[in-house]
Amino acid sequence: MIGEPRTHVVECESTQLLLGPDDPEGAIATTDHQTAGRGRLGRSWIEAPGTSVIVSVLLRPPAERRAPELSLVAAVAVAHALEEAAAGLAAQIKWPNDVLVEGRKVAGILAEMKGVAVVLGIGINVNQTQGELPDGAKIEPASLRTLDDVERDREAILKTVLRRLDRSYGDWRTNGLAALHADLAARDYFRGRRIRAGDTRGVAAGIDLAGRLQIETAAGSVSVESGEIELEP
Ligand code: BTN
Repeated sequence: MIGEPRTHVVECESTQLLLGPDDPEGAIATTDHQTAGRGRLGRSWIEAPGTSVIVSVLLRPPAERRAPELSLVAAVAVAHALEEAAAGLAAQIKWPNDVLVEGRKVAGILAEMKGVAVVLGIGINVNQTQGELPDGAKIEPASLRTLDDVERDREAILKTVLRRLDRSYGDWRTNGLAALHADLAARDYFRGRRIRAGDTRGVAAGIDLAGRLQIETAAGSVSVESGEIELEP
């Protein structure tokens, strides 16, 4: 079961640094505040102390699975957890690692390899006020609280995330992304939108069974493995 053993510290640089390849699968590290939280592509992840769910999970995926797919596996779990926490809210997945509500980023996911293990980091904006959210982020951020004015128990949301992740990770271990594909497709924020990945421009056509973003371009279909996607005006 994901969530045991748990290391909790009041403050740390990054929970990603509290787990190593010798930890048992399912071990987690949590904190109330990170002083050097990490985001994808070398960015930082900033949260006001005591406002967020901040958790890293040690996973040891089977050799036949592609570890980069884990960001999507976690995104599905987080999307469900947000919808459980806030009735009426609809969570979308912005490939490959963001969870959005009403077009604003509520959660981010970072999968880092440590040997054959993966440390999967999840940050969820729960109780920040508008003024506590970071300025200048690439995608406008939101917290659950800025969305519906309700303050929530972060520990309860963590529990829901871990339960959902246990389920989506188990399904993925057994059946790969096929197990989550319908859910992913239904939550795909980019699908049908005009996007750009580097010099590749076109219309987002979905996420394939290997977790790649499909783009329909003038020259045909292109699969993108990783990188930055921009919405075209
Ligand atoms: C992103 O949006 O680029 C990914 C953000 C990931 C943030 C989480 S918070 C828990 C874990 N510790 C970190 O330093 N980063 C991840």
